Amino acid sequence: MKPPLFFSLPGNESLGAAIAARLSAELGKLTARRFPDGESYVRLESDPKGRSVIFLCTLDRPDEKFLPLLFAAETARDLGAARLGLIAPYLSYMRQDARFQPGEGITSTYFAKAVSRSFDWLLTVDPHLHRRESLSEIYEIPARAVHAAPALSVWIGKNVKNPLVIGPDEESRQWAQAVAGGNGAPAIVLEKKRLGDRKVEVSAPEAGRYKGRTAVLVDDIISTGQTMVAAVKHLIAEGFPSPLCLGVHGVFAQKAYEDLLTAGAGAVVTANTIIHPSNQIDVSELLAKACEEFVGG
Ligand code: R5P
Repeated sequence: MKPPLFFSLPGNESLGAAIAARLSAELGKLTARRFPDGESYVRLESDPKGRSVIFLCTLDRPDEKFLPLLFAAETARDLGAARLGLIAPYLSYMRQDARFQPGEGITSTYFAKAVSRSFDWLLTVDPHLHRRESLSEIYEIPARAVHAAPALSVWIGKNVKNPLVIGPDEESRQWAQAVAGGNGAPAIVLEKKRLGDRKVEVSAPEAGRYKGRTAVLVDDIISTGQTMVAAVKHLIAEGFPSPLCLGVHGVFAQKAYEDLLTAGAGAVVTANTIIHPSNQIDVSELLAKACEEFVGG
């Protein structure tokens, strides 16, 4: 039997090569570009006929990435692919999971339907499951999430002396404890009020007990960065020097990364679910192992 055929959408090539090598998959050649009028052109230069095909496309800034991905998947299906999988290390549209205002769309559900129509399975890293228990509530295909908490924990163990791990809100307490756990470090959470897309107020009422430790803020997503900016400023005012900021997914909307450094973060570190200079935590092995369950290994 032929090995799986692995296509990386543009921008995903380095992570794709690492995952494909671990899977002993064949790296496929794909061209994706824009026509002068802005429409998407996609060509699969490796024949997917009869093959188990994997597409890798992280989905930050999804509106520009999703249509080429969809066209690539539909092309593979059209050319006779036997099975289509999507690895989306960062899975978009997970946050609008309720109708907060009358008339709003529940876009996480609509997005899940669109993905489920074009792919046979989905693999991601730490999706933002806030009001939902699992991906299967909205995805109609087998959907698996792997977790980066152990990798964050290892990074902290190697790089931080005497850490105090701080999660973004009460809901993250267990997750922050899991990140801290491996190092026997204490974990606390922020009290957080989001007043708008870019306006967040935080306090850290439990932090006073742990003065002298290195504050390590951990979060699943750094988007506008405003949660961490507010936390960094608050912790510095409370006497913690240069808190460290660790995120699984560094979305970094607008100047979020620069804002964090300006606010006084000692370092900003992310996993390579979204390629960025802050990447220090590699998820390729995690993804390759989980992928074997879908394609055999
Ligand atoms: C919220 O529930 C998440 O865990 C993050 O705290 C949030 O998404 C971070 O967003 P931002 O960087 O825009 O403050």
